[in-house]
Amino acid sequence: MKKLAVRGTVLATVDRGSGMPLLLVHGFPLDHTMWDTQIEALCDRYRVIAPDLRGFGQSDVTEGTVTMEQLADDLAGLLDALEVGEPVVLGGLSMGGYVAWAFWRKHAARLRGLVLCDTRAAADSPEAAAGRRETAERVLREGPAVLAESMLPKLLAPQTLQLRPEIADRLRRVILAGDRRGLAAAARGMAERPDATPQLPEIRCPTLILVGAQDVISTVAEMRGLAEKIPGARLVCIEGAGHMAPVERPAETSALIRAFLDQLTESETATGS
Ligand code: MLT
Repeated sequence: MKKLAVRGTVLATVDRGSGMPLLLVHGFPLDHTMWDTQIEALCDRYRVIAPDLRGFGQSDVTEGTVTMEQLADDLAGLLDALEVGEPVVLGGLSMGGYVAWAFWRKHAARLRGLVLCDTRAAADSPEAAAGRRETAERVLREGPAVLAESMLPKLLAPQTLQLRPEIADRLRRVILAGDRRGLAAAARGMAERPDATPQLPEIRCPTLILVGAQDVISTVAEMRGLAEKIPGARLVCIEGAGHMAPVERPAETSALIRAFLDQLTESETATGS
């Protein structure tokens, strides 16, 4: 992994391949390794950049509250540090999608496409935001095991939990290795995020929306609503997956992203853009 000084912190990132840049943004409380299969599968034709966000994985931690806007600015800074001048396709899962909304608000000119996986546009209700802040306090006191216990059953589809325990084990290891201060800071930041719903009709870049058929965090119905509001967005429902389609159905997710990128490349070549 590369380690780069960005906006007063150090971010660790995978940077593999060359070609159209694909920036993959992980969910909470995970790190870039959730994209391992997609990185391997796509770096033959595309430049795949998969960072650990501030406070996660091998990146440095900032205490307090880290907002989705700060994380989006980090990504823009990371692209500068990697000398990526051309617009990117941003793929974000769940919290990565919340960061994608902020990136669109602040850095739309740097976007040529969006891949939104298992995410939501709505803000937290006041109750949900209060619950998140309480969770942040508990994580600070008791450590990341709090999140492993409460989130794992919701991250994965029932059949993944039953038949493929190695996937839950892998995610558990990542969660337990997390830094409690980084996790708490991002949880507080998610509680503060604004409602992105009003911006959806203004999104003009090609958009692919992926959702696990058994996602209980960002449901198919909610993601269908989101897809209907983004002009031209395509929704694909992935059978046999919960909230973590890239990990539960890795080959299928990679193939869908590849087809989207290939189509984007072809249409850009055809129009000379
Ligand atoms: C995620 O996967 O990033 C989380 O489920 C996001 C959230 O807690 O809202």
